[in-house]
Amino acid sequence: MVKRLSFNRVLLLTLTLGIILMPRVFAVSVKAFNEDKFILGKSFFEKPWVAFPASTTARDGLGPLFNQNACINCHLKGERSNKFVVKLDNPNTVYGTQINTKSTGNVPVEARVEIDYQTHISSYKNGDKVILKKPVVRLSNLGYGRVNSTLSMRISPSLHGLGLLGSVSNKPVKRFNLSAHEPSILTQVANAAHNDMGLSNPLYLQENCTSKQTKCNNAPKGKTLDLPQQRLEAITYFVKSLDKVSAVKPIKLFTKVGCSYCHTPSYDLEKRTIYPYSDLLPHNLGEGSFRTAPLWNSKKAPNFWHDGRANSVEEAILWHGGEAQSAKEAFVNLSKKDRVKFIKFIEGM
Ligand code: HEC
Ligand code: HEC
Repeated sequence: MVKRLSFNRVLLLTLTLGIILMPRVFAVSVKAFNEDKFILGKSFFEKPWVAFPASTTARDGLGPLFNQNACINCHLKGERSNKFVVKLDNPNTVYGTQINTKSTGNVPVEARVEIDYQTHISSYKNGDKVILKKPVVRLSNLGYGRVNSTLSMRISPSLHGLGLLGSVSNKPVKRFNLSAHEPSILTQVANAAHNDMGLSNPLYLQENCTSKQTKCNNAPKGKTLDLPQQRLEAITYFVKSLDKVSAVKPIKLFTKVGCSYCHTPSYDLEKRTIYPYSDLLPHNLGEGSFRTAPLWNSKKAPNFWHDGRANSVEEAILWHGGEAQSAKEAFVNLSKKDRVKFIKFIEGM
């Protein structure tokens, strides 16, 4: 009798629990990690694309004008690299928005890019000096005549943590790419596919040619989009899954110096606190508007600043001017001991 009762109780308990838990289990499984999508996205991120027509229809359509044939060439392991692109002031009716240094078939490349450096020296009160070098772009072998635009370099940033930045609420609608011009990771991936690799896609229906680039327009192309919606979404899904970021709590000195005015240390997301150190807003530090660079990938960074001009955290800080002039000066006025501690703190992120 006793045994029977307890059996019934267990049954009742199981049923009740089942009913309570069922919708949750279901909700979790809907939101769960989609391995197929991840693998598909990863492969399209990593594998090189080839020109149309080719035996592999899934990955043809590269160019006619492009910079690299795979996302991974610039974003190795999703991390920051030394690979860069040269942007043009909008609108340039002949060259478009970006200089493409490679091409397929007999299409002339837009230009060859060379870099010169302007050097200047920054000094601390105690006499310590830091040599700062600014890259200046020089174009040669112009394929389509003169370029009547200002040129600006952009280094390939780390993609780790972008998905997390996408879920910060109450923040500007546009928060992606180094100038914070793109509203979502998907629009940025579509932009990259089009401008960096010449892939037409649902957001960029045409090939990456301006109307003045005849051979580019006449180059052979497929009847369908090079990168259809489902694959664009898969790459985006893969990029969003890149989440190797540090979680370093701020030291008092950081706020005291005034860095946290733009480099907002942390945000509380639904399930965790993240430490990106950015307000995700554009600021003018003297040379145009750029998004406050998140500092959470600093430890692995081979360079700093939108054009990679800084070889160290210290050089990056010394490049701050404009809206960040007073914070920079507060840093420069720290004692040597504090300065070293401060740089170590950021280098450790
Ligand atoms: C030629 C090098 C190159 C290639 C190839 C390339 N990227 Fe990028 N990527 C960059 C650069 C440079 C930027 C910064 C662009 C800017 O700020 O305008 C960037 C920015 C991004 C960003 C925004 C990062 C941020 O902090 O908001 C994402 C996402 C991205 N790329 C994904 C991709 C994907 C996906 C592909 C392949 C379809 C790709 N990239 C191909 C160089 C490249
Ligand atoms: C007014 C806003 C503002 C303030 C104040 C500010 N920064 Fe920045 N910081 C930025 C912006 C914007 C960038 C990106 C600049 C660029 O790439 O052109 C940046 C870039 C950086 C970088 C380079 C990161 C990278 O990945 O390229 C470091 C390091 C940095 N800041 C540290 C600091 C420190 C330390 C302080 C305080 C002394 C500080 N910043 C104060 C806005 C600010």
